[in-house]
Amino acid sequence: MVVYRASTTAPVNIAVVKYWGKRDPKLNLPTNSSLSVTLSQDDLRTLTTASCSETYTEDVLLLNGSPSDLTGARTQACLRELRALRAALEAKDASLPKLAQLKLLLVSENNFPTAAGLASSAAGFAAFVRAIADLYELPASPTELSLIARQGSGSACRSLFGGYVAWRAGAHVDGLDSKAVEVAPAAHWPNMRALILVASAAKKGVSSTSGMQQTVATSGLFQQRIAEVVPANMETMEAAIAARDFPKFAEVTMRDSNSFHATCADTYPPIFYMNDVSRAAVRAVEAINTAAGKTIAAYTFDAGPNAVIYYLEEDSETVLGTFYALLESTEGWKKGTNPKSSVQLDEAVSDSLKTGVSRVIMTGVGEGPQKTDVFLVSEDGKPLSTSA
Ligand code: DP6
Repeated sequence: MVVYRASTTAPVNIAVVKYWGKRDPKLNLPTNSSLSVTLSQDDLRTLTTASCSETYTEDVLLLNGSPSDLTGARTQACLRELRALRAALEAKDASLPKLAQLKLLLVSENNFPTAAGLASSAAGFAAFVRAIADLYELPASPTELSLIARQGSGSACRSLFGGYVAWRAGAHVDGLDSKAVEVAPAAHWPNMRALILVASAAKKGVSSTSGMQQTVATSGLFQQRIAEVVPANMETMEAAIAARDFPKFAEVTMRDSNSFHATCADTYPPIFYMNDVSRAAVRAVEAINTAAGKTIAAYTFDAGPNAVIYYLEEDSETVLGTFYALLESTEGWKKGTNPKSSVQLDEAVSDSLKTGVSRVIMTGVGEGPQKTDVFLVSEDGKPLSTSA
């Protein structure tokens, strides 16, 4: 009995120009282009092993040890496309084993706790698609695979690359031009750091999928965002990255996050993702930049209250120092990181962060998916766990 296996890791990405809105929910085509920074897999990654065998009787996905649904339309779209590509290879070369018709066992684990409150769907779908593509030995580029991952979850298409990644919205009705491309590799601007302040690990109130549909349907402000704000932000952001211009990068990051959350507030009924702790993080970043006399830190928020603060390695002392007194005993603060800063925060801001931040993640820009020989399925087709 033969068990075919392939393993890969995939990263999380955090957008600095946000994807928010679908022009075609079925093909998962966006209303606008977006751009993200891929975060280091040392701190945040999904590891997925894809395997197939004649002995398997059904497709199975185990996620962090528990069976997970594979029947959703988005997952099925990914599976269908990957199997079709494999079947095409087999049709051309009769010597290839017939893997496309075999059932799959997929085992997937995150190296960060679900309690970190981070949306893991981007890393999850990117690893899912990359692992199956490797299992099938598809000669597909990351951009080609991004077309498939996009159908699993929009933001997942950007996790097929490391560094700085754009998702081009595209204009075709079939979505064949809606794909991710590398804007710059991590090595182009390797000193980009990210401090994540986890303000709540609770499951989001309104999922991105449903929230963005409500915004598209009801917000007038959103029309201006996709017609004017985002195209300008994409252009400025790509130029800022090319020139390693942090103040520009930071300003667009903060303005774009503000614009996205403004369209949420303009949704009817309104959607609120940021809370008082999020707003305290905004104030802290403003205090840091005011004290520095230039923009050295940038906040951004996704569909939840957690703050992601981008800064450069050379400004660690000031940025991390500002949070050190408040957060050094918080879960995730890297020991030995005890920088000093003279930035004074308002008492209300300090109190809010001290009591409201439950965990921090200290990370930075990183690489795209990596093939690995760490397997979560044994040679005889049994699920394994790395955390056991
Ligand atoms: C706010 O990719 O989770 O994080 O395509 O419906 O799965 P679906 O949405 P998803 O939305 C992410 C929205 C965001 C912004 C971003 O990552 O660009």
